[in-house]
Amino acid sequence: MTTRRDFLSRSAMTVAGLGTMASAQVPVQTAESVKQLQPPKKPVIVTRHTGDNSIEEAYKMLLDGTDTLEACHHICVARENDANDHSVGYGGLPNEDGVVELDACCMHGPTRAAGSVGAIQNIRHACLVSRLVMERTGHVMLVGEGAEHFAVAHGLKREDMLTDEARRMWLLWKESRSSQNFWGPPMSSPDGKAPNPAPTLKPQSAIPRHPGPEWADEIRTRSQQLMGMAIDLGIPEDKRSLAIEQVLWPTTGTIHVSALNTKGEISGATTTSGQAWKIPGRLGDSPIIGAGCYTDQDVGSAGATGSGEENIKVAGGHTIIDCMRQGMSPREAGLEALRRIVRNYNGDMNKIRYLDMIYYIVRKDGAYAGCSLWSTTAGGTPKVFTVHDGEQHVENCAFLLDGTTTN
Ligand code: GLY
Repeated sequence: MTTRRDFLSRSAMTVAGLGTMASAQVPVQTAESVKQLQPPKKPVIVTRHTGDNSIEEAYKMLLDGTDTLEACHHICVARENDANDHSVGYGGLPNEDGVVELDACCMHGPTRAAGSVGAIQNIRHACLVSRLVMERTGHVMLVGEGAEHFAVAHGLKREDMLTDEARRMWLLWKESRSSQNFWGPPMSSPDGKAPNPAPTLKPQSAIPRHPGPEWADEIRTRSQQLMGMAIDLGIPEDKRSLAIEQVLWPTTGTIHVSALNTKGEISGATTTSGQAWKIPGRLGDSPIIGAGCYTDQDVGSAGATGSGEENIKVAGGHTIIDCMRQGMSPREAGLEALRRIVRNYNGDMNKIRYLDMIYYIVRKDGAYAGCSLWSTTAGGTPKVFTVHDGEQHVENCAFLLDGTTTN
């Protein structure tokens, strides 16, 4: 039987134990070289090359003392507002049902807080919803309808995210498969043709982006078909090539921003409309804390654009931060995460050539890197990232493999 005295003495021990725990320093294995890193003399922002003014504005915000996460979200919001950026927010390419579903997450270094939203519909600023989840809930992640209700409850307005341009691109993709379904003009219409001789065409996913001469006929036939359909669908002339490219080689776009100020405070944010034509409900890496974004106030911040499924499997953001914690430079850490992606395919280049990945990394002392799986873009130009460290400049990424993805 427990006496009152036993109870009181046990309670006292528990309280004493809690007190000891509360003040204990729980050691985390961090390389001495990292512990000794000092904040930079100037703020640093690392992100995708956007071509807009938001990076300059975000940098000024950091100089004025604005919080690092707010600066990250300033850039994300600008992308989400840009209807011509088909990889993020308003104007993002939809899922296979023609519905835009957005993913985002963020981490705030100073408070070590995180928030995330997945597959949210009808809300433009997924990045701000992820922040609301972080600041206004006891959760870290909300998805789908629940996330939409939550966003509306916090004053964000519902609006259709599908622009006319994105809708026509989606229809082109949908109708391009008309030999296998009933979308598109029927054979009985005035211009109706017999179904495409699909069996003579290879699956379009097999067409490399930089095809050798052996692909020329295949690409020509496919592109001619798509061009005719694009005209039919009223896609403006200057958008037809882009639409055809998105049908043949759907992209995964996305934007990640990591920001560091002169107090050494760090934040990271990622936002995306995800893989074009995805299965409804699909989540990529962008809403996954530790994959699309990871920030550790003691070490740095990292995030990704590219093949989301691959990045989830190597927990890219977290892997990079942990490698830096052990003393690797941002560049070495980024390349190590990329090596793990290649390792997951046992180095099989027939598969790896369909993958793409860029990591954006900043360490708490201001050292930074952009690391790409492949050296060049589809157009043959080097893969780049943007950094602002007092001056905005575009730099070539360090890369693991020389060549270009066929994705
Ligand atoms: N990296 C973006 C996505 O795969 O959705």
